[in-house]
Amino acid sequence: MKNYKIKDIRLAGEGRRLIERAEEEMPVIKMLKEKYYDSQFLKGVKIGGAIHVTKETAVLMRALKSFGADVAWAGCNPLSTNDKVAAALADEGFKIYAWRGLNTKEYYWCINKVIESNPDITMDDGCDIVVTLHNKFPEKLEGIIGGTEETTTGVHRIKAMEGAGVLAYPVVAVNNAETKWDFDNIYGTGQGTIDGIQRATSTLITGKTFVVAGYGHCGKGVARRARGLDAEVIVTEVDPIQALRARMDGYRVMPMEEAAKVGDIFVTATGCKEVITGKHFDYLKDGAILSNTGHFNVEVDADLLEKTAVSKEEVRPNMVRYKMPNGKKIYLLAEGRLVNLSAAEGHPSEVMDLSFANQILSLKYLVEHRGNLEKKVYEMPHEQDEFVAEMKLKAMGIHIDKLTPEQDKYLHSYSEGTH
Ligand code: ADE
Repeated sequence: MKNYKIKDIRLAGEGRRLIERAEEEMPVIKMLKEKYYDSQFLKGVKIGGAIHVTKETAVLMRALKSFGADVAWAGCNPLSTNDKVAAALADEGFKIYAWRGLNTKEYYWCINKVIESNPDITMDDGCDIVVTLHNKFPEKLEGIIGGTEETTTGVHRIKAMEGAGVLAYPVVAVNNAETKWDFDNIYGTGQGTIDGIQRATSTLITGKTFVVAGYGHCGKGVARRARGLDAEVIVTEVDPIQALRARMDGYRVMPMEEAAKVGDIFVTATGCKEVITGKHFDYLKDGAILSNTGHFNVEVDADLLEKTAVSKEEVRPNMVRYKMPNGKKIYLLAEGRLVNLSAAEGHPSEVMDLSFANQILSLKYLVEHRGNLEKKVYEMPHEQDEFVAEMKLKAMGIHIDKLTPEQDKYLHSYSEGTH
């Protein structure tokens, strides 16, 4: 019986070359493979993952297998799977259930297949495995060692589960590591989102009014890259501190109702729902381009757009033109799903090198502390963060200063003041 369901196994050769190329750009994963291969710390451990099936995720999966794990995988978004990569993974013997263009039923079928493999550890990106496992397969919760969560939205959901007292096993918030969110979320989302918009529209960003909703790590990255292309950037926010930060970083800040009237290109990066919805559609300029880079497709109200529009036409891959009753055109990219992964290839490999190094170290933490952890969300130990940064610097050939013993003592004492 086949242990996979993917688009087309004949794409395996192309997928393998993509993975090999990504591997070249992920030196920290290579170093970890060399360092921990002998320990086989995942020997006999069944891992069930739902992280976007990209060439970078394939590099991670190969690493897990090299440490002895038995790996089953699904994607975590209906449009983000790279079918070539999925084919290569199936060809390499991974249990993989993923293809691009899943409907909701198929999406959860894939998630269920991973859960049916009885994982000892779950690896999530958006928390769909953990929630499905708790809601639909409670009998499988007993004995789970733990889980990891890759993204901000997933960490919010896991913390909500912890808060509600229903979380049944420990989960490491990989997203919250400094070497994850200060790099992946900022530079990865920044570059990948612009890349997705560019591939979907082929439009000039320079000179456009570019609206970024949300000034968290991801929004900051997108705003910075759009400014780098000489767009005029507007930020919308609900958090007064983030709004102030955006203003001090030099962006115009205003409510979405005002931004909707002047924006040419919109990107939502809030993690919240109904950020661009009916009232905004009425204000939009003719030809406005809407996209989302948040985890779920709830930020731009695509259902309402669909219901309200008088016609709909795909003008290019991942770019749909809606004609509204007032005669205006609104463009929606990648169905309002994350544009960086749906219309481009997600974060570049060098950045995923850091994120997935944190994933590997978190797995190591979970197996080493097996049975001694509480049913709660764990932050990554700071030493782990420093270790990942040190390895990346080493791979980049960058040396840094060290504190002298005197300096170290100074930083931990209070006796020396004004001289
Ligand atoms: N999330 C964002 N970019 C990604 C990538 N390239 N691979 C896996 N997950 C991602």
